Amino acid sequence: MEKVRTADVLCFSTPIYYYAVSGQLKTFLDRMNPIYSAGHNFKDVYLLTAANDTDSKAMDGAIKDIEGWVECFEGVTLKGVVKGTGANDVGDILSHKDKLEEAYNLGKKYIILEVELMNKKILIGIIVLLAVIVVGAYFLFNKKQYNSQTNQYSSDLSSNAKASTQNNNEKKTAKNSLRDGESIQTQDKNKSTRVVTGGTKIKMTFGDTVIYGVLNDSETAKALIQKLPITQHESRYTHDFCGVTEKLPYNEDEVHYGWLNGDIDYAIDAPYYTILFKDEEISEQYGDQVNIGVITSTISEIDKLSGSFDVKIELDN
Ligand SMILES: Cc1cc2nc3c(=O)[nH]c(=O)nc-3n(C[C@H](O)[C@H](O)[C@H](O)COP(=O)(O)O)c2cc1C
Repeated sequence: MEKVRTADVLCFSTPIYYYAVSGQLKTFLDRMNPIYSAGHNFKDVYLLTAANDTDSKAMDGAIKDIEGWVECFEGVTLKGVVKGTGANDVGDILSHKDKLEEAYNLGKKYIILEVELMNKKILIGIIVLLAVIVVGAYFLFNKKQYNSQTNQYSSDLSSNAKASTQNNNEKKTAKNSLRDGESIQTQDKNKSTRVVTGGTKIKMTFGDTVIYGVLNDSETAKALIQKLPITQHESRYTHDFCGVTEKLPYNEDEVHYGWLNGDIDYAIDAPYYTILFKDEEISEQYGDQVNIGVITSTISEIDKLSGSFDVKIELDN
């Protein structure tokens, strides 16, 4: 019954018995009664008949029977009847090529409709797929932008990455941003790459952990030192701990892209105070920062921290 109820098209077939449908078909139609209240999907109904009589009027009674059933279902119509007259014995109908063709053409219409529907579904599928790809690509492309709005950091640096890369020859890298008295060490990966001699010692308290560092004598670092102690919110990102800080002055000549592991940088755009302890090898895509010092604690000490902290930054006397 569920098959009948949910079908798109119904095609009944009956011999003509006493100028009406067969008892079996009549019973079948009667027993489909629950569909009447359950709702139905079908709209088009067809009837195939066979009778001994050669006059097509022989089918009128059967047509009336089916019409009576069809009328009870809203939106349903008897779309076509194949009148197989002069068909008394098994196989008789095979000699009525016109009737066979008539039945074939009625059915073919639905195959074509089905194919068209399938094509439409495929087309819709392709359009949806393309839309998903475009939207996905859009979001991927803008992910860093989005992250910057929510995390207040990552993408501000990366949004400058292109410009920085384009100006590769004009802008400084972290390596060539070394100040007088600074050098690079590569022996101990657990220590800051940049070595600062002298400078102003600071300590940064992340909850129970104290990270020590030293600030250089840049204009920016000096301005920051004047403001200490300060407490600012710092969050852990892939390669740094970063948070918005107060606007500080900086020297244009000191703006560079990239960092050395352990660098404390002032990112001029936001502005951010950021401790970059990882991934110096891939850092040159990030631009517009000024180095103000390094951590003197080990890299692993800061790397083991996660989450966000209200970090107190103060002089370490
Ligand atoms: C009980 C019965 C009643 C029939 N009544 C009619 C009839 O009213 N008019 C007619 O043209 N043929 C009538 N026929 C002939 C059938 O419609 C015809 O032989 C048909 O091909 C039989 O199909 P079937 O073999 O599936 O029963 C009747 C046949 C039977 C067995």
